[in-house]
Amino acid sequence: MDEKARILQLRDELHQHNFRYYVENAPVISDQEFDFLMHELQDLEAKHPEMFDANSPTQRVGSDLNNEFETVVHSRPMLSLGNTYNREEVADFWQRVSEGLMGAPFQVCCELKFDGLSISLHYEEGRLVRAVTRGDGVQGDDVTANVRTIRSIPLQLPAGADYPKQFEIRGEVLMPWSSFDRLNKEREEAGEPLFANPRNAASGTLKSKNSSTVAQRGLDAYLYYLLGDGIPGDGHYQNLEAAARWGFQVSKNMRLVDSLEGVFEYIDYWDKERRNLPVATDGVVLKVNSLAQQKSLGMTAKSPRWAIAYKFQAEQAETTLRQVVFQVGRTGAVTPVANMDPVQLAGTQVRRATLHNADVMASLDLHVGDRVLVEKGGEIIPKIVGKAESSETGGEAIPFVTNCPVCGSKLVRYEGEAAHYCPNDTGCPPLILGRIEHFISRKAMNINSLGPETVDDYYRQGLIHDAADLYELTEKQLADPLASDNKGVRKILASIEESKQVPFERVLYAIGIRFVGEIAAKTLARYYGSIDKVAEASMESLMQINGIGEVIANSVIQYFANPVNRAFVERLRGYGLQMELGEQQKQARSNKLEGQSIVISGVFQHHSRDEYKALIEQHGGKNVGSISNKTSFVLAGENMGPAKLEKAEKLGIRIMSEDEFLTLLDTQDS
Ligand code: IVH
Repeated sequence: MDEKARILQLRDELHQHNFRYYVENAPVISDQEFDFLMHELQDLEAKHPEMFDANSPTQRVGSDLNNEFETVVHSRPMLSLGNTYNREEVADFWQRVSEGLMGAPFQVCCELKFDGLSISLHYEEGRLVRAVTRGDGVQGDDVTANVRTIRSIPLQLPAGADYPKQFEIRGEVLMPWSSFDRLNKEREEAGEPLFANPRNAASGTLKSKNSSTVAQRGLDAYLYYLLGDGIPGDGHYQNLEAAARWGFQVSKNMRLVDSLEGVFEYIDYWDKERRNLPVATDGVVLKVNSLAQQKSLGMTAKSPRWAIAYKFQAEQAETTLRQVVFQVGRTGAVTPVANMDPVQLAGTQVRRATLHNADVMASLDLHVGDRVLVEKGGEIIPKIVGKAESSETGGEAIPFVTNCPVCGSKLVRYEGEAAHYCPNDTGCPPLILGRIEHFISRKAMNINSLGPETVDDYYRQGLIHDAADLYELTEKQLADPLASDNKGVRKILASIEESKQVPFERVLYAIGIRFVGEIAAKTLARYYGSIDKVAEASMESLMQINGIGEVIANSVIQYFANPVNRAFVERLRGYGLQMELGEQQKQARSNKLEGQSIVISGVFQHHSRDEYKALIEQHGGKNVGSISNKTSFVLAGENMGPAKLEKAEKLGIRIMSEDEFLTLLDTQDS
C-alpha cells in the first residue's frame, strides 16, 4: 500500500479506536498499540504535508497558535428552556402539552440536564465542519479548533452509516469531575484562582485562545438534540439512538415515558443517583418525543412549548456549628465564616461555610452548638442556609464584630451595601495588599510582571509598605542569591519603570479612591485635567459632573482630606508618574460651554450620545436629562422626540444640530 493510502487507513482506524475508548468506554486495543498507530500516522503526515487534514486524529492535541473566534449566526436560533424547581409546574407542563395536543397520546423523553455549556456541531458528508457556542442564542463564537480536541466528539463519522449529508447536532460540553479536580489542584499549586464549578471551568476552557490548553484539560461532551432536513425519523429518542450509532456520545440515561408518574419516577431516581455520575448535572429535561407533536406545540418567544427543565435542589447536609470567625478581605469587606464539625457534602468534606454578611448572619440566628443545614450551590464555598429542625438553642445569637479583627479599627457600613468594611485603607495589612494589587493591575498601572504572590512576598519581607515603595525597589534588594541570573527581577523593575508612562486617567484609577472605578476616573481626569485640580475640587463642583454622584464625590473629598493619601500622591509624582492629562488630551478641552445646561436628544451621525456627553463635559458644560426654562440649548440629532421638540419650541429654547454643535466647539474661542 502506498503511504497516502496508509494515511487514510490509519485515520479511519484511529477514529474508530477513539470512539471505542472515549464514547463506548470499551477499547479493543491497548494504549500502547494506540500510541503506536498514532506515531505511524504522525510520521507519515509529516512526510506528506499536502495531506494535511484538520480533522485528522493527530490534530486532537490542538495548537499553540492563538485563535480568534469569529461570530457565526446560528442556522436555527439556540433557544433555552423554561425552568422549574417545582413538581406542580411539571404537572402543569404535562397538562398543557396534553391540552395542546387535544388529548392525543404522547410520549416524553426524560433526560439529564448536563451542567456545562451548549454547543452546536455541524457535519457535512460525515465531517465535522463547524462548532459554535450558544452565544446569545442568535449568534455564537466559532470554536471549531478547540472542539476538535474533545476526544468524544467525532471528527469523521464512519463511512456507510445512514447519517444525512448535512446536519446539526447540539449538546453540552462538560468538564468531568475528575478533570475538574485535577485542574483545580494544579491551579491551587500554581497560586492561580480556582474555578468555582465544572461549568465555569468548561466554559473558560472552551473559550481559551489556545487549543492545546483545551486539549490538556480533558473536556467531554454529550449530545442531546439532532436537527436538520433528512434526519432519520419522527422520534427524538430514536434519532439520538441513530446518532449514537454514528459515533456520537449520547447519554445512556434517557428514558421514554408515557405518564406523569413515569416522569416523577425518573426525577426521584436521578435526584439521588446523579451523585454517582462522572459529570455535573443540575436537573432533568423533559421533551415531547414526536417531532410532529413538537412542531404542533410550537414555541413561545423564548423557549419551546414542548420541553421544560426541572432543576434539582442543591444538596444539603446537617452538622454542628462550632464557631464564627471574621475574615478581612482585600477590599476591607469583613465576611463571617462558620467553622463546623466536618460533614460529607456533594462529594467533599466540608468544615467551613460562608455566612455572607451581618444581615444574613442575623437572619439565621446562630448559636454555638446549633445544628445547621449546609448547602453547596454553584460556588466552591458552601453556605449555611438554615437551622435543622432538631436544633434546640436559645439565648443571644452570635454577634457580628464591631471592630476589624486584624487592626481593631471600628467597622463601617456604607449606605446601600450589605458588607461591613474596615476603613483603615492605609494601615490594615489585607487592605494595603489589596490596594497594591489594585495599583499594579492591568487596567491600572499594568505592572504585569508582578503578581499578587510576589507583592505579598515583598510586603512580608518588609520591602514595600505601599504602592509608592515599588518605585524604590532595586535589583540588589530583589536579587535571589541562589539564582544564576536575575532576568526575572530585571523584568519586574523594567515594568515598574514603564508604568511611569501610564496616562493620568489610569493613575487616578490606580491610586484606589473608593468607588472611583475606571469610568469615574476617566471622567474626573478629563474634566479636571490634573490631580491637583481633582484634589481641590469642591463637593458642588464634583456633583455637577455627569456620572459623578454623591457617593463618589464624597469619597474623592475624603481621600484628599487624608494627609497620608496626599503624601502618597506626592511621592508618586516625585517618581515621575503622570499627574495630568497629556498635551493632546488637554487641547481637546476648553470652557466654551461653561455654565450651560444642554439636553441631548435624537440619533446622531458623527458621535455616539455618550461621546457627546463627554464632549459637553470636557468643554465645561453640563448634560441634563429634560428640557426646562434653564436649558441653554438642545443638541438634536435625527428623530428628536415630538414631545421634546414641542416643549423646546414653547419655551423658546434653541435647537442645535450636530454640525452646528461641532462647529461651535471648533471655532469659538474660549
Ligand atoms: S435541550 C430546545 N437537553 O440546558 C431545546 N438542553 O436551558 C434545547 N442542557 O441551553 C436544549 N442538558 O445548555 C437540552 N439534555 C438536555 C440538556 C440541555 C443540558 C442545557 C442546554 C440548554 C439549557 C436549557
